[in-house]
Amino acid sequence: MDTADNGTLSIKNLSTHFFTRRGIAAAVDDVTLFIPKKSVVGVVGESGCGKSVTALSVLRLVSRPGRIVSGSVSLGGEDLLAKSPAEMRQIRGSRISMIFQEPMTSLNPVYTAGRQVMEAMMIHGGTGKAEARDRTVEMFRAVGIPEPERRFRAFPHQLSGGLRQRVMIAMAMVCRPSLMIADEPTTALDVTIEAQILHLMKELQETFGTSIMMITHNMGVVAEICDYVYVMYAGKIVEQAGVFELFDDTRHPYTLGLLGSIPRHGSPKGRLLGIPGTVPSLLDLPKGCRFSPRCDRAERYCSEREPEMYEVAPGHKVRCFHCSGGSKGGSP
Ligand SMILES: Nc1ncnc2c1ncn2[C@@H]1O[C@H](COP(=O)(O)OP(=O)(O)OP(=O)(O)O)[C@@H](O)[C@H]1O
Ligand SMILES: [Mg+2]
Repeated sequence: MDTADNGTLSIKNLSTHFFTRRGIAAAVDDVTLFIPKKSVVGVVGESGCGKSVTALSVLRLVSRPGRIVSGSVSLGGEDLLAKSPAEMRQIRGSRISMIFQEPMTSLNPVYTAGRQVMEAMMIHGGTGKAEARDRTVEMFRAVGIPEPERRFRAFPHQLSGGLRQRVMIAMAMVCRPSLMIADEPTTALDVTIEAQILHLMKELQETFGTSIMMITHNMGVVAEICDYVYVMYAGKIVEQAGVFELFDDTRHPYTLGLLGSIPRHGSPKGRLLGIPGTVPSLLDLPKGCRFSPRCDRAERYCSEREPEMYEVAPGHKVRCFHCSGGSKGGSP
């Protein structure tokens, strides 16, 4: 039996739609995703696949014209979709913390870095001022900020991108959340800093036993830090597996494309170069398998019927007619 705060996140059949003037965009379409306690789970896919909307749905921060239309989200067995707005505010930043995709938009330019982290701790952690100050400096040191006492008094614009991101990570860690959602936390950073930050996150995760949802479009980041991976395409999960299995026994042509797109030394950072074509508009999805127009293995039936998720090995599922390895019912 799960304890209330054990960090296990369970998303079941979640759909989040945007009701736009031009039609309904199913940004998250029947997504089922599980993050066990103390693990790092990756959510990967190209731009516009629904990664951030999935994260915002967990935090109940989807804003109009978007709305969660069905499914369930629970943390440690507690139904998050049944919480009141006040209860959710309490949960965000204490039990779940988030590193947003744009670090500058989440730090307030008029307050010092130290004060912001300290206040986050005081609001959610119930700590007094002196203790919060000490713990903030301690956390700055833990996330590798040099001269933490001096940086405590710095304003965000006085810090480099790498340091600002570390402040964000410190802020996300101070409350010792059971779940941390990190949305492209290192995309804006150069590769050396990226490696340091990933190492730190892993270390902090091991020290505090936090579960992490790592959102990224970079398979290199996945290989570096994740235990288990969900691959998203046009609002749906198309493949899921343990990280070694995903790299070793890749099934879905889309995942293969992403793996071919690991940024190599010297290639433009954050760009996926390997898959021809683009993600379809959610307002005009292809019939059948959503990836079929870009898939070099597509047969006619791929654009007629949508494949289900098939289990191809324990813990490894794939949504593709061609990927089941023959005997497990994957053919249409
Ligand atoms: N405010 C909005 N109004 C209408 N549609 C939206 C809105 N926000 C998101 N969407 C739709 O949701 C889809 C998924 O967006 P999301 O931000 O989750 O993508 P992502 O996978 O995080 O991409 P990226 O890698 O660029 O961050 C978009 O393609 C878009 O169609
Ligand atoms: Mg995003």
